[in-house]
Amino acid sequence: MKPIFLTQFLIEEQRAMGKITPDLRLLLEVVTRACKRISIAVGKGALGGVLGDAGTGNIQGEAQKKLDVISNDILLEANEWGGHLAALASEEMDHPHPIPEQYPKGGYLLLFDPLDGSSNIDVNVSVGTIFSVLRKPEGSASSEDDFLQPGTQQVAAGYCVYGPSTTLVLTIGNGVHQFTLDRELGSFVLTQRDMKIPPDTKEFSINMSNERFWEAPVKRYIDECVAGKDGPRGKDFNMRWVASMVADVHRIITRGGVFMYPLDSKTKSQGGKLRLMYEANPMSFIIEQAGGAATTGRERILDIKPNKLHQRVPVIMGSKNEVDLVSSYH
Ligand code: AHG
Ligand code: MN
Ligand code: MN
Repeated sequence: MKPIFLTQFLIEEQRAMGKITPDLRLLLEVVTRACKRISIAVGKGALGGVLGDAGTGNIQGEAQKKLDVISNDILLEANEWGGHLAALASEEMDHPHPIPEQYPKGGYLLLFDPLDGSSNIDVNVSVGTIFSVLRKPEGSASSEDDFLQPGTQQVAAGYCVYGPSTTLVLTIGNGVHQFTLDRELGSFVLTQRDMKIPPDTKEFSINMSNERFWEAPVKRYIDECVAGKDGPRGKDFNMRWVASMVADVHRIITRGGVFMYPLDSKTKSQGGKLRLMYEANPMSFIIEQAGGAATTGRERILDIKPNKLHQRVPVIMGSKNEVDLVSSYH
């Protein structure tokens, strides 16, 4: 079969759906080109001098890795000049990054986690990039508030996993499609159309070391999974935790499962661990488009009206019947 490259896929979607404007297509091409550069930087590892700490911190109070900063710079540089964006925001920047004066401005807002799973960089375990696209509200004079739209307003979302292969998973609101990077050609090739998450699963993904900090509903759910055949679920469960959300969620999109970074007493005062705008929202959009569900336990993630750019939320997402069960315990 003839390979379908990302460009052809996007052009066909643009023609058939009218959903992708030329500017959105440019945006997606530019973001994914930046991901190819990040993939190359990540792949060089110690030979590229890219491992280790940058010696700086971000607004979340986390130490930045060299590759966090490099990936952020690559995404900024790629997206500044095209005329498709009004502004960009990132996990690694305190405030939105305006488009430099010399370039035209466009109608889209881009948010990203340039490198997710930073704790895995130095140990050669999968990391990734997550991004979310919003429309700039009409008539607004560019401000941070422009970004504070619920996840239901996203026009596109995607992520790349830099693993044994580099894969791109993308939604523009009509299903979820997977592309694999052909390293020789330097192009993303469509490898799976319309990914669907099985509604049931026997696999859960949570940092078990936080157990004593969890709330009762989450503890109940996990206890019942761990009890396996002998418990109320009547079947054995398996556990997987990569500690890169992007890789854990990718496994779930590929073969089902439930991923949780729930509210716990350690992170309660800040609202949770994962960030709404560039982690939870894009992943929830993708998960729902693949037939799964995403909730805080108490409300659908995509319905949350954000109150700040770096807001954190509890996250429970994946196979629909499991997510519904955890929600029912809340
Ligand atoms: P980031 O590297 O972008 O800061 O995100 C890391 C997040 C997420 O990817 C992952 O699921 C979680 O942190 C890992 O947390 P633990 O350290 O508790 O395993
Ligand atoms: Mn992250
Ligand atoms: Mn990150």
